[in-house]
Amino acid sequence: MTLFRLDASIFPATSASRSLADLVEEQWTSVHADSVVTRRDLAGDPIPATAWQNAVSAGFVPEADRTPDQRDAAALAATLADELVSADALLFAVPLYNYGVSQHFKAWFDVAYTDPRINPQGTALRGKPATLVTVLGGNYDPGTPKEGWDHSTPWLRRVLADVWGLDLRVVSRPFTLVGVNPALDAFAEQAATIKADAEDGARESGRELAKRRPRTSAA
Ligand SMILES: Cc1cc2nc3c(=O)[nH]c(=O)nc-3n(C[C@H](O)[C@H](O)[C@H](O)COP(=O)(O)O)c2cc1C
Repeated sequence: MTLFRLDASIFPATSASRSLADLVEEQWTSVHADSVVTRRDLAGDPIPATAWQNAVSAGFVPEADRTPDQRDAAALAATLADELVSADALLFAVPLYNYGVSQHFKAWFDVAYTDPRINPQGTALRGKPATLVTVLGGNYDPGTPKEGWDHSTPWLRRVLADVWGLDLRVVSRPFTLVGVNPALDAFAEQAATIKADAEDGARESGRELAKRRPRTSAA
């Protein structure tokens, strides 16, 4: 069994998303003792900013006529798609940055999404079990002052569950900046509860991810 794990934190040494994803991974590997975990660290090894335009334009050019940059980009897209298609389960750890999706994740998705197996006509990921771990420095829950400002989580759900058709579960931990940003000190107790709940949720999601099989109805 193979688990594909993607991380997008730009501060891996102190990363809350990595810690939560570690809990998911631990549970998954404890069920699948002979498992393989393939990793892609998007901040440590970013997708080149020019890869997407070259991969898209490569799609309009016969293979023999492609430029070296277009060939490289198409090959990169195939590698990214291989990692997803060949895995039995997928784990994504993606923080909220600047009220939107991580630019590293967006660059990765855009390039991967040019591969014919998982492009708008592709179906290779439908029904595949996946867990998304997302962390947010603030709190955007209903009734909070910045409700609606998290433009990352809804987009991630849209592309992973609705576009690619993954069988997606989401573990979310808001308020990771409590204890870091003194302006949020009043939320210390609430944040501690949220953290503990998210850790429980991550463990549960890992156990569940290990047991889930691809949804056959969507294959
Ligand atoms: C450059 C930068 C921008 C950020 N922008 C936001 C933001 O718009 N909203 C928010 O709630 N948190 C924001 N954060 C806080 C991160 O979401 C938070 O620190 C999260 O825990 C980072 O993920 P990590 O712990 O896995 O590294 C930002 C952090 C950084 C470094």
